[in-house]
Amino acid sequence: MIDFVDYYQNKVVLSFEDHPFSEEPKHVWVVCRYDGRWLLTHHKDRGLEFPGGKVEQDETAEQAAIREVYEETGGQVKYIRYVGQYKVLGKDKVIVKNIYFADIESILDKNNYLETNGPVLLTILPEDIAQDHRFSFIMKDNVLSYTLQKLALLQE
Ligand code: GTP
Repeated sequence: MIDFVDYYQNKVVLSFEDHPFSEEPKHVWVVCRYDGRWLLTHHKDRGLEFPGGKVEQDETAEQAAIREVYEETGGQVKYIRYVGQYKVLGKDKVIVKNIYFADIESILDKNNYLETNGPVLLTILPEDIAQDHRFSFIMKDNVLSYTLQKLALLQE
């Protein structure tokens, strides 16, 4: 387990074990690759981030991950795997979020991307995201860097 504070100084605990905090987390976050690039969404309030959101009733976390990728980017998931889980101890509540990695088959054009402006493809993720005002706060703590390290190890 790894712990650190997020952009808002909330404590975050991150683990790459199998569902260490909850078997049924209510939140998901999906690191997406499409055609050699990173697929993000542009959230209307928060800025650029990997897609994700809340698990609805009667769906699994993985189903929510696939749905959120489609809703926020139009991306159709070809392959998805669980990577890890993190817990954020917020001021009012504690949330638990599953991290997934997804390979995207195609990106469909849509009229509506809900609370986002839709897909954004990036060849590289900048080194200084934490200082980059285009990016969402959820991209600005160590969850992203540890997850990218983990994904690189998984590919070896
Ligand atoms: P409602 O229940 O719809 O009102 O949602 P909410 O606006 O309270 O947000 P949500 O339940 O998604 O998250 C609650 C708090 O958890 C947020 O205000 C954030 O501080 C924090 N949070 C949510 N997701 C993340 C994340 O991926 N990373 C970090 N660091 N904090 C997060």
